[in-house]
Order: sequence, then C-alpha cells, then structure tokens
Amino acid sequence: MTRRPGATSPIALVTGTSSGIGLATAVELAERGYHVVATMRDVSRSHTLMSAAAGRGVHLEVRPLDVVDDDSVATCVADVLGRHGGVDLVVNNAGVGCTGTLEELSTTDLLSTLNVNVIGVARVTRAVLPAMREARAGRIIAMSSMAGAFGQPFNDAYCASKFALEGLYEAAWPVAAAFGVHLTLVQAGPVTGTFVEHSAGIRQRRPDDPFADLWGRFGSIVERSYDRAQTPDEIATFIADVAADPDPRLRYQTSEAVERAVRIKSADPTGERVGSLTRSWLAG
Ligand SMILES: NC(=O)c1ccc[n+]([C@@H]2O[C@H](COP(=O)([O-])OP(=O)(O)OC[C@H]3O[C@@H](n4cnc5c(N)ncnc54)[C@H](OP(=O)(O)O)[C@@H]3O)[C@@H](O)[C@H]2O)c1
Repeated sequence: MTRRPGATSPIALVTGTSSGIGLATAVELAERGYHVVATMRDVSRSHTLMSAAAGRGVHLEVRPLDVVDDDSVATCVADVLGRHGGVDLVVNNAGVGCTGTLEELSTTDLLSTLNVNVIGVARVTRAVLPAMREARAGRIIAMSSMAGAFGQPFNDAYCASKFALEGLYEAAWPVAAAFGVHLTLVQAGPVTGTFVEHSAGIRQRRPDDPFADLWGRFGSIVERSYDRAQTPDEIATFIADVAADPDPRLRYQTSEAVERAVRIKSADPTGERVGSLTRSWLAG
C-alpha cells in the first residue's frame, strides 16, 4: 500500500466508478484500507457502487468528476487535496469505446474518444502531479488495454486513444519518477461487463454495407475472445496488487494472454506478425 509519510490512511482517487472495473477497484481498495474517493460524472448513478461497498462492509466517499471537463477535474482534485492534505494513489479508469473503421468515423467520434481516454487521463494526472511531486511520493495508474499495444480492426479510434495514452505515460514517466511519483499502465484484454454495450460508433450493419462481411468475421473473433474474458473483480485485485508493488513498473499485463500479445508486438518492428494475425481475423 502506498502512503505519504505521516498520513494515517492512504487516500485513493478512482475515476469512472459507476460501473465495471472502476466500481470494483474502488471497493477493493477500500477493503485494503485506503480512504477511497470514488468519482463519477453523474453521482446520482452511485447506487450500484454504494450497495457493492455496503455488501463488502466498506465506506466510500463519492464525488463528481467528469474527465472531459477541466473545471470538474480541478474542483474535485482541489477538494480532495484540501480535505485530505494529499492523495497517495490515483486510478485513471474512466474510458470509452468507439467502433468502426477509419473511413466511417467522424471527427467527433475521434475527438470524443481521445478526449476521454487520453486527454481525460492527462487532465487528472496533471492535476494531482504537483502535490505528489511536493510530497515526493505517489502512484498514478491508468487503465490501458491490449488495444494500446496491438492495432485491432474496427477499433481504430479506441486503439489510437490507448496507443496515445501509452506514449503519454511512457514520456512523462521518468520526470515524475525523479520526484518519487510512479506512473503505471495496466494493459487488460477482454473484461466482462457493459463496456462494449456502452461503446459509441457503429453497432449494427445492413447486409449491403461494404464492411459487413469483415465485421461479421471479426465479430466472431471478438465473441470467442470474450469467452476467456477476465472479470472486473479480477482486474480490481490486479490493480490493487500493482498499487502495492514495492518496485513499480511502467507496464503490467493483467493475464498471460495479454502478455503474449504484447510480446508479439515488441518483437515485430515491421508490423509483419501483427499484420498477418489481424488480417487472418478478417479472412473468409
Ligand atoms: N471492458 C474491457 O474489455 C476492457 C479491456 C481493457 C481495458 N479496458 C479499460 O478499462 C476501463 C474501464 O472499462 P470498463 O470495462 O469498466 O467499462 P465501463 O463499465 O463502461 O466503465 C467505464 C467507466 O468510465 C466512465 N466514464 C466514461 N466517460 C467518462 C467521463 N467523461 N468522465 C468520467 N467517467 C467517465 C463511465 O461512466 P458513465 O457511467 O457515466 O458512463 C464508467 O464508469 C476503460 O478505460 C477501458 O478502456 C476495458
């Protein structure tokens, strides 16, 4: 568990806790002794989180935070720093999906995906860094994905956002580390829940759609991958273990399957292996 020198109970701020991984992580961290500030853009949707916390016998503080809104981020972080004197752990979990191949995606689709998944993480990270730097301590974890290492068809906007997140954290990492602040990316594969259902972009296709066949073939691959999906609780346990790692790394993969995929990518400077794999997913 990370803790500022002198603090009694470590403070953790988690974004996007209305459902899925964020909800499970907020509860898991509270169970491990953190004082958790569970944030969401619409706090009237906190009932599922609150009943999960009650079921595990833990207390959470729920606060509004919309990661696409500069004022919302600044107000929430200033409030947490003012009331608790600092923050020990931040989990940048809030994220959105957007399906469709590039020529179908509007500028709005691209910008709104990047706004949540990259600039949203940047806003929250930038807001907490000065206090952590002064304390010379802190952990900031961001939910990345296999899609942050491996381009996947019909996930162009999402992959672009997670690749950008990877670059953002890799670049900011050494400077933050020089002040005792650790940035970490958690790369997950498929996780059960409502993420796909919440995704923007194209969801249904007519048979005369030029991409219908490719989409159908890729859909079968995705369905099969979700047969082996991890659960939000498994990811939450993983994130809490990462937060407690005494020797924090920049990147962690949540399963052996994700680690294998990332290894293929790391050993493939020309894109040949990734390309032959992703093209095989679309082959008739
Ligand atoms: N599910 C997967 O297969 C998978 C795999 C790898 C990585 N991930 C990553 O894991 C993270 C969580 O995904 P999940 O599976 O738990 O999906 P989820 O259940 O859809 O959760 C996404 C959360 O992000 C919140 N959110 C969206 N826009 C926001 C904004 N502007 N400000 C604050 N919160 C916002 C949502 O809140 P609302 O309820 O208000 O919309 C929701 O609480 C994401 O970053 C995702 O990219 C997911």
